[in-house]
Amino acid sequence: MSRARGLAPAAGGGGAGWIGAAEEIGAAQVREAARRIGNPREARWMAEAASRAPDPTRTLAAMVERRLNGEPLQYILGSWGFRRLELAVDRRVLIPRPETEQLVDAALEMLDRTGRPEATVVDLGTGSGAIAVSIASERPRTRVWATDLSDHALEVARSNDPTGAIRFLAGDWWEALPEGLRGDVDLVVSNPPYVAASEAEALDPEVRDWEPAMALIAGDTGTEAIETVVGGARSWLRPGGGLVVETAPHQAPGMAALASRLGYVDVEVRTDLAGRDRMLLARSAAACRPRLQGATARLSWR
Ligand SMILES: C[S@@+](CC[C@H](N)C(=O)[O-])C[C@H]1O[C@@H](n2cnc3c(N)ncnc32)[C@H](O)[C@@H]1O
Repeated sequence: MSRARGLAPAAGGGGAGWIGAAEEIGAAQVREAARRIGNPREARWMAEAASRAPDPTRTLAAMVERRLNGEPLQYILGSWGFRRLELAVDRRVLIPRPETEQLVDAALEMLDRTGRPEATVVDLGTGSGAIAVSIASERPRTRVWATDLSDHALEVARSNDPTGAIRFLAGDWWEALPEGLRGDVDLVVSNPPYVAASEAEALDPEVRDWEPAMALIAGDTGTEAIETVVGGARSWLRPGGGLVVETAPHQAPGMAALASRLGYVDVEVRTDLAGRDRMLLARSAAACRPRLQGATARLSWR
């Protein structure tokens, strides 16, 4: 099933800090936490996070109870590693996944190929801001716009952008963007929801019962949001602009065929580290050039 979670510690998690945590809390309590949750590594990460709280022992005990209640470790820790970042995460947002780190690799590769350091990038469905903040920090001259339908998710995303460099916008997919951006975007990147409603029950309970349904479920087919992103990008990208979209493995070939039918060029499916089809890459052809309808004014940045 898609949206399986891989474990990646928050930056610094599980490292030397754990020794200090054990001193703070007491090695016996950390061992007891490990025994109760059946996972020494997770217990060490929790102890390290708890050691920064005013009452570490009580905080660790509360964390253990939350974990035993099925809550994902990432929400309990309150932050999670993503590429070079340590992102705040809680129940308002999807926990960023390792395969999305690869999506950012593909996005940066495409961005670099444009040869435009000040390229305009749009991240649709930004959630925690994982993709947008990574691109903004790894390519600091880019102009990044990030959207989400969820105001709650946008609060988290904003908190993950300490420089305030990213423009966060609320709204339904393309409707969130200012009209003046149409035809001026160098790169559209998105990890939209892609689980079909009928597949929701089969999700890992830790995903299904804790992560926002809006971040997971797309609709009856599961491809509704991807189709909206792929279909809409044609009129927002500049000619030759890039599109990078995460999909479930079984959706990738169909979505690539859709992109070809819509006139994109250089359509490609890439795999994740496990060898599963996971990313759709494409470029807008000159033929996809948007018809600007009274929206030719270029937006000034800032
Ligand atoms: C799979 S999550 C991806 C979050 C983040 N980009 C990541 O990769 O970790 C999908 C995101 O799309 C947002 N979303 C769902 N429906 C949307 C819509 N109609 N318009 C804009 N965003 C939407 C969700 O709130 C969620 O944050």
